[in-house]
Amino acid sequence: MSATVSLQQLTEQLEQLEAQAAADIAAASSASELEDLRVGLLGKKGRLSGVLGAMGKLPGDERPLVGQRANVLKEQVQGLLSERLNAVKSAAMAERIARETLDVTMPASYTPVGRRHPLISTIEEIVDIFAGLGYRVEEGPEIESDFYNFTALNIPPHHPARDMQDTFYLRDHGLLRTHTSPVQIRHLENNAPPVRIVAPGRVYRRDAVDATHSPVFHQVEVLAIDEGLDFSHLRGTVTSFLQQFFGDLPVRFRASYFPFTEPSAEVDVQWRGRWLEVMGCGMVDPAVLEGMGIDSERYSGFAAGLGVERFCMVRHGIDDIRRLFTSDLRFLEQF
Ligand code: DAH
Repeated sequence: MSATVSLQQLTEQLEQLEAQAAADIAAASSASELEDLRVGLLGKKGRLSGVLGAMGKLPGDERPLVGQRANVLKEQVQGLLSERLNAVKSAAMAERIARETLDVTMPASYTPVGRRHPLISTIEEIVDIFAGLGYRVEEGPEIESDFYNFTALNIPPHHPARDMQDTFYLRDHGLLRTHTSPVQIRHLENNAPPVRIVAPGRVYRRDAVDATHSPVFHQVEVLAIDEGLDFSHLRGTVTSFLQQFFGDLPVRFRASYFPFTEPSAEVDVQWRGRWLEVMGCGMVDPAVLEGMGIDSERYSGFAAGLGVERFCMVRHGIDDIRRLFTSDLRFLEQF
């Protein structure tokens, strides 16, 4: 184009540019708009570059005047841009804060924390102690046959436990196991000695419900078969278990009778000034071992059946067994 560019023209252009820039920046309302303005004004192909390009056509002594003016303008524009950018950002933040009001008086959403039922944690604790003594955990079915629940355990047909009063018989065949002792038989059927197992589970009896009776309750069966086991091993194991579970509660062994053990004993702990039976136990009757094809001259063993509800009640100071079965959250939330 023409070479007729004067100092005055360029200075005017710069002044216009400055005025226009100030107005545009003041009108911009977002960071991206401001960025577009910055590129349009100060970028490589921006308007300032255009003016500076024309500067080469001025006489040498006038160029620095335009150059200085352009630098001042550039700084001014940059200052305006960053000022406006800050203003735009804080406006956006203020708008967001106003939009996202947080109502601290709103009720929290209720997410109850689940916990283990005290009977379950009692079973876990019992099993853990025996696991520490090298016992494996076994389980058996709650629907049993007469054979496993009675016959194989040396319980004769006239035994009171078989009575319709005590056992829930199922319509066609089978019954609800009255104790966890059938797991002894099931395990011995498939495993040769040495044997060390604990078998926790639910058992059923036709008992009327009261503070100490429930038709469904829990036992943990213990069985150890090995060479050379005698009553002192039974006593030592039971005593050490009780010591671990209850600490220093007084304990006594009482002679008793179970068809599948000989001799048999019941174990009581002293609680609230009274003796409370917590398990039956004894040396496995040789007839039971022989019935399982185990040489009773070579092997002997001991067994025990622990009443889980009793352990749980003593541990937690619960005096009515029904509390353990009524699913009252006010009660259960205490554990
Ligand atoms: N099964 C017995 C019951 O339910 C308890 C019991 C007694 C289990 C002596 C045993 C035992 O293993 O040796 O009354």
